[in-house]
Amino acid sequence: MKSISLIQFLIEARRKGQLNAELSLLIEVVARACKRIAVATGKGALGDVLGGAGTDNVQGEHQKKLDVISNEILLEANAWGGHLAACASEEMEDPQPIPDAYPKGHHLLLFDPLDGSSNIDINVSVGTIFSVLRCPDGISQVDAEHFLQPGVEQLAAGYVLYGPRTLLVLTFGHGTHEFTLDREIGSFILTRRDIRIPEETAEFAINMSNQRHWQPPMKRYIHELLEGSEGPRGKDFNMRWVAAMVADVHRILTRGGVFYYPLDTKNQAQGGKLRLLYEANPMAFLVEQAGGAATDGHQRIMELQPTGLHQRIPVFLGSREEIELVTRYHQQDQTSS
Ligand code: F6P
Repeated sequence: MKSISLIQFLIEARRKGQLNAELSLLIEVVARACKRIAVATGKGALGDVLGGAGTDNVQGEHQKKLDVISNEILLEANAWGGHLAACASEEMEDPQPIPDAYPKGHHLLLFDPLDGSSNIDINVSVGTIFSVLRCPDGISQVDAEHFLQPGVEQLAAGYVLYGPRTLLVLTFGHGTHEFTLDREIGSFILTRRDIRIPEETAEFAINMSNQRHWQPPMKRYIHELLEGSEGPRGKDFNMRWVAAMVADVHRILTRGGVFYYPLDTKNQAQGGKLRLLYEANPMAFLVEQAGGAATDGHQRIMELQPTGLHQRIPVFLGSREEIELVTRYHQQDQTSS
């Protein structure tokens, strides 16, 4: 089979009118930066990249050295190409403008430079998540408010998974596609075109240690799954939890399943655990483009109007039938209370 590189794939998509040259360049630049992050994560103790950076990010979370390194790699790579108006990151309180020395583009890039970073030191998969929006016209100074666009406005989204293989999974609204980094030639090569998530599943991902803190509809739903073939669902369910959203979502895009980070009494005051703009929205876009569904327990994630750059929400995504069921349980609970 003739291999298709990411660049060739993007050129073909441009010819079909699916994306423009600036967006294509942006995706290439992000992919190139992620190759450098893959090299850094792969070095581990040999590159002095393990452990904490000794700083906290805007969310009050301890930063790992690799969080900081990955953030810098993405910022530096994206500063000079002329494809961006500004960047925003999990690791920075405010958006980063493009330096005056460089031309400005029409896009806004949001990213979580290293998702699941508690996995770094134990040599388990981590990832980068990104989302691309159009910068509103006529803006000379980009502020956080310009990033507050619902997920349906995303022009592209993707993640790079640093696991046994380095994979890029990408959408620009014409399906969800997977590319594998060929380490010998240094290129991302198309390995799955038009990924489809099965509508049904018998596998779920959730942090069960939070069970006692969940709301009643979540407790009811998971209880029914755990009852397996003896309960109302009439079949046994399997559970997996990598604690890196990228890896858990990748499993769903490979063999189906569902991922949940619901509201609980610990994260309620913040609105949830996961960030809407650079975690939930890009993952929702990828999952929907693969035939799955993504809600916050009540509504489609991609239709939520963001209110803050680092806003958090509950996340329910994956195989359509399960997401519809768990969302129905939450909606019923709301109408009965
Ligand atoms: O902050 C994001 C994240 O690391 C996700 O990648 C992951 O799914 C989740 O948090 C893990 O949460 P917990 O540590 O509660 O299992």
